[in-house]
Amino acid sequence: MRCVVANWKMNLASEEARAFCEDLLGRCTPGAGTEVGIAPPFTLLHLVSDLVRPRGFQVFGQNGHAEAKGAFTGEISMPQLRDAGCSGVLLGHSERRQFFGETDGALAKKVKAAWQWDLLPLLCIGETLDQRDAGQTLEVLRQQLSILAETGPGPLWVAYEPVWAIGTGRRAEAAQVLEAHAFIRSELKRHRAHAERGVPSLYVATETPESFPELLTIPEVAGGLVGGASLDPRKFAELVRQAG
Ligand code: 13P
Repeated sequence: MRCVVANWKMNLASEEARAFCEDLLGRCTPGAGTEVGIAPPFTLLHLVSDLVRPRGFQVFGQNGHAEAKGAFTGEISMPQLRDAGCSGVLLGHSERRQFFGETDGALAKKVKAAWQWDLLPLLCIGETLDQRDAGQTLEVLRQQLSILAETGPGPLWVAYEPVWAIGTGRRAEAAQVLEAHAFIRSELKRHRAHAERGVPSLYVATETPESFPELLTIPEVAGGLVGGASLDPRKFAELVRQAG
């Protein structure tokens, strides 16, 4: 199975989102064997899901709280994401870890909450430049996936983000991408995470229509979680086409 997910981050307002979706729908629909998702900001979830879900796209929240409701100003819960049309949720994106102090302990609770509300967690993991330079990459991935010992098995997608290759002009080599994805697969097996169907493992770091086809030739890479290029419907549709 191939998967391509657009992470809009904190971009677009409603009229831009509507124009994006109408343009995208004119260019592509998910094919058999390809899952395509969009993760818009919370304010756009209803609008985007009403437009794209009838055409077979999935909608993801960019974050979700572990509690179902309560006094957590500024947060959004998993049942609220479901109510807004989501079928999945991004968890542990490097920007959440770096700027908002997201910890592995909190993520274990969030993964469990997502499952409780029938949302597919797309768990992002990856090493920083210092960690890679110190030879700690696989240890960091092992640690970030160790939350699965606490959550137990369940449906999951994983996105590997070499944080040092996002917005830096540096590019992960195919051998580095392969090593990380193969390690992720073996760790997921060890944790018996969705072992019977295999867990799609996506790559994250500035995919473009120019770089994506080569990435897709790397064994273990099931697709991409796309940032900047996903804000352009022409480019995102091309990535969907390449994955199909
Ligand atoms: P860019 O594709 O803009 O580098 O972002 C990658 C990312 O963080 C996707 O979630």
